[in-house]
Amino acid sequence: MKSNSLGFTKLPYGGDWNPEQWDPSVWKEDVALFKQAGIDLLSINIFSWTLNQPDEKSWNFSWLDDVIALLKKNKMRVCLGTSTAAHPAWMASKYPDILRVDFQGRKRKYGDRHNSCPSSPAYRKFAPQMAGKLAERYKNEEAIALWHVSNEFGGECYCENCEKRFREWLKKRYGSIESLNTAWNTRFWSQSYTAWDQIVAPNQLTVHWETTSTSHQSLVLDYTRFNSENLLDCYKLERDAIKTIIPEAIVTTNFMSSYRPLNYRDWATEMDIIAWDNYPFPEHQPSYTAMMHALIRSLKQGEPFMLMEQTPSQTNWQPYNQLKRPGVMRLMSYQAVAQGADAVMFFQMRRSRGACEKFHGAVIEHSGRSDTRVFLEVADLGKELQDLKNSFMGATMPAEIGLWFEWESRWAVENSMGPSCALDYVAETYKYYRPFNEMGYMIDLIGPDTNLSQYKLILAPLLYMIHPGVAEKLSAFVEQGGTLVTGFMSGVADVNDRVFPGGAPGPLKEILGLWSEEIDALAPEHSNSIVFYDEAGPLKGEYQCNLLFDLVRVETAEEVAVYGDDFYLGRAVVTRNSFGKGKAWYVASSPDNTFMKDFACHLAAQSGVKALLKNLPLGIEVSRRTSEKGEEFYFILNHKETQVKLELDDLELQNLLTGQRHSGALKILPKDVVIGRKLTGLGTE
Ligand code: GLA
Ligand code: ZN
Repeated sequence: MKSNSLGFTKLPYGGDWNPEQWDPSVWKEDVALFKQAGIDLLSINIFSWTLNQPDEKSWNFSWLDDVIALLKKNKMRVCLGTSTAAHPAWMASKYPDILRVDFQGRKRKYGDRHNSCPSSPAYRKFAPQMAGKLAERYKNEEAIALWHVSNEFGGECYCENCEKRFREWLKKRYGSIESLNTAWNTRFWSQSYTAWDQIVAPNQLTVHWETTSTSHQSLVLDYTRFNSENLLDCYKLERDAIKTIIPEAIVTTNFMSSYRPLNYRDWATEMDIIAWDNYPFPEHQPSYTAMMHALIRSLKQGEPFMLMEQTPSQTNWQPYNQLKRPGVMRLMSYQAVAQGADAVMFFQMRRSRGACEKFHGAVIEHSGRSDTRVFLEVADLGKELQDLKNSFMGATMPAEIGLWFEWESRWAVENSMGPSCALDYVAETYKYYRPFNEMGYMIDLIGPDTNLSQYKLILAPLLYMIHPGVAEKLSAFVEQGGTLVTGFMSGVADVNDRVFPGGAPGPLKEILGLWSEEIDALAPEHSNSIVFYDEAGPLKGEYQCNLLFDLVRVETAEEVAVYGDDFYLGRAVVTRNSFGKGKAWYVASSPDNTFMKDFACHLAAQSGVKALLKNLPLGIEVSRRTSEKGEEFYFILNHKETQVKLELDDLELQNLLTGQRHSGALKILPKDVVIGRKLTGLGTE
């Protein structure tokens, strides 16, 4: 039987368990309930630094020995935390350098979690020391499937130690203060530096007026890069401490979807397996969550990832903590799997009695009972995952569409003073993801380092920053017959956020066959229209657009649609340029969803990308995972409250959950899922 790299022969199922908060008699009850629910992987020791190390010179792991032994006895495995996600109070008293300085410039006092300064000598000594102690103690422990460093790395610090490290980081990047001055364009407002130690961390005491506006974008951009790398260093210190003792250990940490401060593309290269925590807000569309899964999956070239956390029922930190309705936890678990997850995990296994997460959903609620709605749903899913065995584990998701998602452009665009404060990188990107996902196309989220050879269509809204080599790569892609779509605020700046000489779209001008003359910004409630005089496939008539209105001057590009209003009425808003064998589109404003849907249909037809199913009803999500042997698994999810009938076209599927065969029309119940192995044309495509 095939097993994945964690040594499981079915999808691991479990979550964060905090036995340190409970008496050992409760551990036994928990383990019995885990068994009932088909739970087999527990993340433990996430927040137990003080218990493990009550002072500088003593360590106490006997409780952890007992917990691991109990799990092992019950044939459960361990995702072992390093416990360093919240530093002990004694450490903060004795080594105040571990306390962060916040954005307002205030030195924090002890309290909370995810609170250590990433440059603190104390943190950099004690955290890897703890990871090393754990590795030494458990190096032969077979129950450990993987290692979980700290927890949800994040945040920023602006202390003097961070400032010092930042200066060292800058010295390495720029070599001389002169080249830094040039890169940062510091003659502006007389901000030139004459020595490295004049450079200070950018917060509200320096170049920020409010959270979002800054007078010095290149400095802020570099500090954001530095902070992401500095935190990554801390991850690496712990990882290396583990791997020095256990070279074959599988090490990860948990990501938070598209979390802005950390460039997860860089982080991914240091992870053995990608893991993330999925907590959508009730207002998020299923396609939004799908995009987050796709982003996470794409970080490691499509390798299966772990859904490390999700709530079985509700969170405690959203403004209104809605329960997941019956069937929704199961559906969302399968959505993760459908998008490439090979593990389904929860936060939390048992609800705390006190502190701020006592109202956060859990597999075992305060009642401690096994006949609650939530527990029963968890147990039912546990049984299904056991029955599914390893059928599609390891299977990947080759896609023909690549959607650009790049942290540095996002930082630069969102830090920008002008042209619009309403520009939201993720929202604009999602606009492009949504119609394709809702019509049943497979989409990867790609970045500057992605190999583009598998794609036919590349969607790159807000391709603001052009990294070295990217314009050449995109130009080769289009030249060889690919379709590229980009638009306003693209090709604007280099990696230092300096505008390209000659203006936007900089090195993309030739591919796009136009240049940008001016850009209008109106409050989001004001709109203009996109008018098609001739039909371009499904695109016809008028659509709405808002936010930014780029006034381009076409050179070789063809005007496909024009603005319908304002002094730029009649000027191009959508253009298409033939370049080599391919086409490059430019969308000069932010269109409404109706346009996006018709545009997606048109682009799909024109670029030759194929949907998994034709005429997919709205609210049905479909995706496909393909095993190494070429076996195909279709995941069809009904996000609606009603039963839906859909056409399988010429697909014939063997339902892995019910054993039924499906062909022709398929009825799918509300919130239900069909996981089907493809029967027709097996191996012939
Ligand atoms: C995060 C953390 C967990 C827990 C959950 C609550 O994902 O990693 O420790 O606080 O949020 O939703
Ligand atoms: Zn600091």
